[in-house]
Formats: sequence, C-alpha cells, structure tokens
Amino acid sequence: MSNINIALVGAGVIGKRHLRALNSIDKISLAAITDPFPQAAEVAEQQGVPLFSNTSEMLAAVKPDGVIVATPTEHHLDPTLESLEDGAHVLVEKPIMATLEECRQTIEKSHETGRHVLVGHHRRYYDLVNQAREIVQGGGIGQLVSVCGQWNVRKPTDYYTADWRKKWEAGPILTNLIHEMDLLRYVAGDVVSISAETSNAVLGFEKEDAAALIMRFKNNALGTFMLSDQGHSPWSWEQATGENVAMPRSGQNVISFIGTKGALEFPNLKLWKTESGDGNWNTPITATSLGGELEDAYINQLNHFAAVITGSEKPRIDAQDATDTLQATLAVYQAAETGRRVEL
Ligand SMILES: NC(=O)c1ccc[n+]([C@@H]2O[C@H](COP(=O)([O-])OP(=O)(O)OC[C@H]3O[C@@H](n4cnc5c(N)ncnc54)[C@H](O)[C@@H]3O)[C@@H](O)[C@H]2O)c1
Repeated sequence: MSNINIALVGAGVIGKRHLRALNSIDKISLAAITDPFPQAAEVAEQQGVPLFSNTSEMLAAVKPDGVIVATPTEHHLDPTLESLEDGAHVLVEKPIMATLEECRQTIEKSHETGRHVLVGHHRRYYDLVNQAREIVQGGGIGQLVSVCGQWNVRKPTDYYTADWRKKWEAGPILTNLIHEMDLLRYVAGDVVSISAETSNAVLGFEKEDAAALIMRFKNNALGTFMLSDQGHSPWSWEQATGENVAMPRSGQNVISFIGTKGALEFPNLKLWKTESGDGNWNTPITATSLGGELEDAYINQLNHFAAVITGSEKPRIDAQDATDTLQATLAVYQAAETGRRVEL
C-alpha cells in the first residue's frame, strides 16, 4: 500500500491534534472529515477535503483504509462499528467506549471483521514510557515490589462552569486517571484488584475532587495512587513533562517504581541503584539520569496506525487491552462506593 487514506470523524480539540500529526506524515493522506456541526466546515476547507455529516455516507464515498474516531466518548460506538463493518481499521480516542457493554460490541465486531481497533492512549508512544517499561519489566530494578504515584492538579474555577463538568462522568477519575491507569498497566503490568476512597469535600459536586487507590498488580507488586483536580501541586504527568503547553512544566517526578534491586523515578527516568547491583539499606544508593526529550507522540501513534493498517505491526493497545484499562478505572468508583476491594 503506497499511500494510506485516513478519514477523521470528529474535528474538535483532539481531532485537530490528530490532523496536525497527520499533515506531517507523507505516507498518510486525509481523505475526508465527518462532523455534523457547522464549525467543522472551516477545518475541512483548510484541509482541502470533503466534509460529511454522517459516517456511513463518508465511508460509502471515500472508502478509507483507516478511520480516526475523535467524537465525544458517548459517540464513539457507532462510527467505530460502521467503519469496521465497512472494512476500515479504526483508531478510536480514549476512553475506548462509554460503557463495558459498548467495549464488548467493539471487540466482537473487530474479531468478526478481521479489522483492528487501536485506542488513543498516546502516552504509550513516548520513548521515556517505553524505556520505563523495559527497565521495570526487564528486571532492571529486580523484582517489582511497589509503585507509588500521583496526579495532583488544581483545575481553574471556570472549568466547572458548565453543568456537565460537575457530573461524575466528567470527574478526574474518568477524564484523567484513565491515562495514569493505562500507563501503570503498560509499565508495571495488569492490575488484579483495587481498593479506593473518594472525596468531594472541596467543590461539593457529584464528581470527585480526590481519590486514593490501593492496587495489586498481577506480578504481586502493590501500588498506591493519589489523584486530585483540586490540589495545586507540581506533581502531574502534564506538568512534569510539559506535554501540554498550557500547563507550565515543573520537571518533577510523579511515579516511583521500586524493586528489590533499585528504584526508578518517573518521568525523568532517575534510576537508583547500588553499584554492585545488589544493595540494601547498608549500601550507598546513587542515581543515574536516563531521561530525554519528549517526542510528538501523536506522530508516533499515527505512524504505528499506518503500520497496523498495512499489517506490519499489531496494535500497541487493542480494544481488549483498552477495555481492561477502562474496567480498572471504573473499578475505582465501585471500590469507593462499596468500601470493598474490587477483583478484576
Ligand atoms: N488522548 C487524549 O489525551 C485526549 C485528550 C482530549 C480528548 N480525548 C478524547 O477525545 C474525544 C473527543 O474529545 P474532544 O476534547 O476533542 O471533544 P470536542 O468536543 O472538542 O470535539 C468533538 C467533535 O466531535 C464532533 N461530533 C460530535 N458528535 C459527532 C458525531 N456523532 N459524528 C461526528 N462528529 C461528531 C463535534 O462536533 C466536535 O467537533 C473524547 O473521547 C475524549 O475523551 C483524548
């Protein structure tokens, strides 16, 4: 396949981010945009591609090799199923779907049609994330014992002006923790159980202001994670890395992976070890910094999508894997509501 034709469904904030990446990759061409709302006309005109108001018309007209689904989460299902049915591979934004039942339908349709679903957990395309995964899973810190992470930010007050932002679905667990959960699963391995507490003591809305998690990983390592969208701190992935220019970079570390032979501070990749490789509290432990610059994960993700379409690579995160991330994230609500550990 010399040139790969991609259609975009949903030309909003993240849809435009995909377009920026797509425009810098020669082997991928944008074939069409689908978005029923008037503001998409300008985007389609700028891109010089036809605009459609529904996915089935677009599929019939342009027969794309791949479709990027970047609609609001509650509208992921229909364009995903229609595209798979039409023979296209799909890159759908995170969270993969709004419900586990929709996930089930997506997995089934992907199997039935033999078409791949790649899910937009873009952090998996950063070198530093893959380096951390190699160190942790490759025994670079010995047997993983514990993981200690946090994402504590204060979102601006006007973020909560819209009523839908006060609802549980718009809270930091589903919006933000899902990225952390996917990262933890990718680096430390599958999560098998979760206990949690949540609080809305600052704003008093339906959505939580803070959550505290205890996790067990499949490899028996234990983890804790603190999350808040009301705690002003330098300790969040976005501030740590400067990934989003609207959130000034703090350069801090936000997760520690701790093993029997050393520890890794993340995302700066500060690797703590004893020189002999087998230290304890009586031996000096020193740090080496392995961290590098952030690349454009959206470009890496689209190059990977192209390789998935041509069959040279398997999805780095397929529908089942992303469903496991969603399920682990949703388990936080259940654990907090029931006061019981949720087995996954
Ligand atoms: N990977 C990330 O870090 C990241 C960041 C932001 C958003 N997201 C995800 O991306 C998705 C979109 O979020 P957003 O912030 O870009 O939203 P948005 O509201 O800015 O954009 C959504 C676009 O979809 C269009 N749309 C709505 N219904 C449609 C339909 N049925 N068919 C076609 N187009 C439709 C809207 O007109 C709008 O242009 C969500 O699932 C969100 O969770 C991911």
